[in-house]
Amino acid sequence: MQKIVIAIDGYSSCGKSTTAKAVAAELGYAYIDTGAMYRGVTLYLLENGIAFDDLPRIEQALHEMQVSFKRNRQTGRNELCLDGKVREDEIRQMRISNSVSEVSGLPLVRHAMVRQQQQMARRRGVVMDGRDIGTTVFPDAEVKVFMTAEVLTRALRRQEELATKNEHVPVEDIVDNLQKRDHLDSTRTESPLRRASDAVLLDTTHMMIDEQVDFVLERVSAALFSR
Ligand code: DC
Repeated sequence: MQKIVIAIDGYSSCGKSTTAKAVAAELGYAYIDTGAMYRGVTLYLLENGIAFDDLPRIEQALHEMQVSFKRNRQTGRNELCLDGKVREDEIRQMRISNSVSEVSGLPLVRHAMVRQQQQMARRRGVVMDGRDIGTTVFPDAEVKVFMTAEVLTRALRRQEELATKNEHVPVEDIVDNLQKRDHLDSTRTESPLRRASDAVLLDTTHMMIDEQVDFVLERVSAALFSR
């Protein structure tokens, strides 16, 4: 069967990655979490003391750092690596969430990541989640979904996820972080977060994961059988 690209974009913490991962597993496709890549770049800059406005050093750092994914054989998940070392736990911490939108708003960072993302999915058969997949990375994706949910629902889900990693954050702090990131992501000049005109809207406020997955799989069937 022909392989396609499934683009899942939307606001922070509305279930994009959980949905995308399950859809990829169902179809036997690769899953690429593009947010993890921007988080990885942010971690690298922070660890190397590179200021977010020092564009020449960032340019150099983008050539030096190696951002990749490695499959964890036990969990079956793709984990983000920096220079070959798995950094999944660090990139999910609040200190990275608080800085990542500033870094991902830099055009030179976006250009480097978008190039790499297009390269990773050149053979298609990929589910990719992010903010600009359906608009910029793969404007020709066969299935485009734009996800949203009420902010408090998103914050509570995020709080639960952080708690499983032993990071206990008040819900107000998470709401604040999500709102700031949504604002920065939607108002930046370089490929801002927006719904592609041909993306289908999925509001997950009152949905269970299985329903979200089924919703996307139905769109996939429709795309594959309308060809
Ligand atoms: O999906 P996430 O929350 O892990 O993404 C982290 C940040 O990276 C998010 O605030 C915006 C940015 N991002 C982006 O600008 N473009 C993407 N394709 C993915 C993420």
